[in-house]
Amino acid sequence: MFTYKSVVAIVIAVSNLAQAASVPQWHPAGPSDIRGPCPVLNSFANHGLLDRDGMRIKLTKFVSAQVSMNVAVDLASTLAFGGPAVRVPTHLDGLAITMGLDDLRKHNGIEHDASLSRKDYVDGQDNYTFNRTMYNEFISFANPSTGHIDAKSLAGIRLLRQKQSKANNPYYTFDPIHATIAHGEAGLILAYFGHQFGDTIPTAYLDALFIEERLPFNEGWVPPTIPVGLAKTTQQIAFIVAEEAKLSL
Ligand code: HEM
Repeated sequence: MFTYKSVVAIVIAVSNLAQAASVPQWHPAGPSDIRGPCPVLNSFANHGLLDRDGMRIKLTKFVSAQVSMNVAVDLASTLAFGGPAVRVPTHLDGLAITMGLDDLRKHNGIEHDASLSRKDYVDGQDNYTFNRTMYNEFISFANPSTGHIDAKSLAGIRLLRQKQSKANNPYYTFDPIHATIAHGEAGLILAYFGHQFGDTIPTAYLDALFIEERLPFNEGWVPPTIPVGLAKTTQQIAFIVAEEAKLSL
């Protein structure tokens, strides 16, 4: 017999699948489409959740696209308005404030050194295009017993990236604001893409996201049932920072 709990679980699973099915079809970016350093926003644009050309998208659209995929309103608005309002170029198009995905490339705006999969901006070097070698190194930190990226993996790759950039980049900056942003991105992917596996992420999900810039529906991911907000993300950041402390002892 079905218990109350199993019926609720089935209803949630069906509604999650229906939500995934309602997402517009994925296409890779075309030659005139613009993309930036954020793998998740690039994936949203490739799915048509954000304007596919990536140009001058309303800030309100950044919020509604995230909220439609169960990023909670507090976090979605902080990401869409908090950073861009002060840290990256925005535009006034009619009555709307807009931002292109390329505006996010601005170095030391939100964009920072010591990224997981993008090179540092050194003497004009491309700081936003996906780098396969860096990504492979990131994924090599997966937990050997689960094959998943977890808080310890993210602590390991964060510390390594910071060490590498400090050694190789004469202009290396990792001030408290950018350290917070970098850890925020790491906490966010754990919370958002890891919710089905105790806040750990199968590498197949990350392959879809980083390599193809595609949401990993085909690999089994569904948007979190409980929207992921600032509280959950902050908790994940704390786990990563605690793992970093153990590694640097
Ligand atoms: C309006 C919303 C958002 C904005 C403005 C934004 C902006 C950015 C920017 C500028 C970067 C580049 C940082 C760097 O230098 O590495 C970045 C990276 C990143 N973002 Fe986003 N982002 C948004 C939403 C999200 C969401 C919802 C997620 C996850 C669920 C996410 C996950 C990531 C990750 C994991 C990276 C690191 C990539 C790497 O280090 O290679 N972002 N984001």
